[in-house]
Amino acid sequence: MKRSSTKWVVCLFIMLIVVLSCNQKPKEQPQTTVENAQWWKEAIVYQIYPRSFKDSDGDGVGDLKGIIEKLDYIKSLGVTAVWLNPIYTSPNADNGYDVSDYRGIMEEFGTMADFDSLLAGMHQRDIKLVMDIVVNHSSDQHEWFKQSRSSRDNPYRNYYHWWPAEKGDPPYRYSLFDAKGDAWQYDTLTNAYYLHYFAKQQPDLNWSNPKVRQEVYDIMKFWADKGVDGFRLDAFQFAAKDTTYPKFPEGYEKDFIQYYAMQDGLHDYLKEMNEAVFSKYDVFSVAEGAGRNFDDAHKLVDKDRQELNMAYAFEGVDIPKYEGYDVATMKEVFTKWDQEFADDGWLSIFLANHDQARMVSRWGNDSDAFRSASTKLLNTFILSMRGTPYCYYGDELGMTNIDFDSISQYQDIAAINGYQKALSEGEDMGLFMEKLNFGSRDNGRTPMQWDGSTNAGFTSGTPWLPANPNFKTINVQVEDSDSNSVLNHFRGLTKLRKENPVLVYGSYELISPEHPTIYAYTRALGNEKWLVLLNFSNSDSSIKLDYIKPSDNVLINNYNVIDISQGEISLQPYQAVILKIQ
Ligand code: GLC
Repeated sequence: MKRSSTKWVVCLFIMLIVVLSCNQKPKEQPQTTVENAQWWKEAIVYQIYPRSFKDSDGDGVGDLKGIIEKLDYIKSLGVTAVWLNPIYTSPNADNGYDVSDYRGIMEEFGTMADFDSLLAGMHQRDIKLVMDIVVNHSSDQHEWFKQSRSSRDNPYRNYYHWWPAEKGDPPYRYSLFDAKGDAWQYDTLTNAYYLHYFAKQQPDLNWSNPKVRQEVYDIMKFWADKGVDGFRLDAFQFAAKDTTYPKFPEGYEKDFIQYYAMQDGLHDYLKEMNEAVFSKYDVFSVAEGAGRNFDDAHKLVDKDRQELNMAYAFEGVDIPKYEGYDVATMKEVFTKWDQEFADDGWLSIFLANHDQARMVSRWGNDSDAFRSASTKLLNTFILSMRGTPYCYYGDELGMTNIDFDSISQYQDIAAINGYQKALSEGEDMGLFMEKLNFGSRDNGRTPMQWDGSTNAGFTSGTPWLPANPNFKTINVQVEDSDSNSVLNHFRGLTKLRKENPVLVYGSYELISPEHPTIYAYTRALGNEKWLVLLNFSNSDSSIKLDYIKPSDNVLINNYNVIDISQGEISLQPYQAVILKIQ
């Protein structure tokens, strides 16, 4: 090529670059960077109680293959992680919270091969799996306990807490599930008592024994090596014990949180667990319970502590009582926990789980008129707060409490032993039964309502707990095809949260704290400011905020209409909206 034509080619090339760069869109604003972003902060967790989710073989008990059948449904919810209640081998005194083999799968739930397929199926769909680790106690049928109780000099003796009877009566300790409220169970075999903070079939493990701790870390590694993505530590705040068993102040002997939780040694165990397990895998960890106060909670979850990633505090979930609750308390409690962890640490947000009655029956209004609106409102709350949301199976449909009136209908050990205890203490049994009807855990464990066929499509056999008779109208099939259903509203919320970091990382500010019925707050990140308005009442309510404009963008609304004027918004009963503030 001649010199002059080479010049022309170079000129053309330069012109092309100039033209192209002139045509480029103006540079996008840099995305708001979020410090300490983590996948588990962005996760939306769906909790499955496997016993009640889907039965694949007709024995009346949900199983792993049943969950596998429903993976596409789970994916369709927009959730990104699943927490499974315990699936290990268990005699089921407390539905799997009494583990007899931590490396085995409960026979009724299936096999290890089923577990492997379930995990693979979740991962194919980009869904993480969180396992429940129950190691404050084991089952009394665990080999360790069988050995431990067999003789005083058995090598496993020290895996549990024993009190030799010749020392006299053991110092009083309360048990949450015992029919007598007594945490010491006498065992004739070695003339000694063993400690059980829950039922007598759930002896407490001795965490001061390094061998016990090593066993637990090996078990956790077994599951982490399989590829699970997280661990929920069941009742772990009670694992450390003061085995000098000091007398508790009079009147406080049963104060479970104040005197039984967060005893010396607990943080050392967690640091050791972190070093042995969490630091070696890409797994996250969440504690059931957050201790006695903010300081305890910070020590569990603050970043530089190297213990856990998050905890769930009970103060919020415990607000609704049989007598009712006040939205002012809800605002106050959720706000103070949010503010306390605004800069360090991370918490879960939840209103229900397998230890509670149904969300809409406790927190909302489960009458025909308001069930749908109030469930949508509660889901809006969970999915628009700061903290990792935990959504309990069935709450995406608005499942409600079941109306049991006789103790023979209940299956939960807490209900059955609680009944015995109340009877022996001469309680007003009418009131006891009413409270049980409102608050029993069995309410939250009835079969998932899939469709209008027999047993709500949960099983072809006899379900271990009956389906709620309202399954003909409240079920996945009906709600899937109704664009106004609780289910489709839930899907809208998960989508909104996943697409908008402001709902995950944005700061939270309570607005109009004194408003008697509307819970209002903003979430803000970078230039984004969102306003969440939740009318916790069965009548219309309005709120005046001078910055509200009719042109504000409504991001989600559980009604098809909205009444906004300049500076004021009126909400219908249980109306829940999220607005983008301009
Ligand atoms: C936790 C579980 C609960 C169980 C108890 C004993 O609180 O969530 O279901 O009964 O521990 O393991």
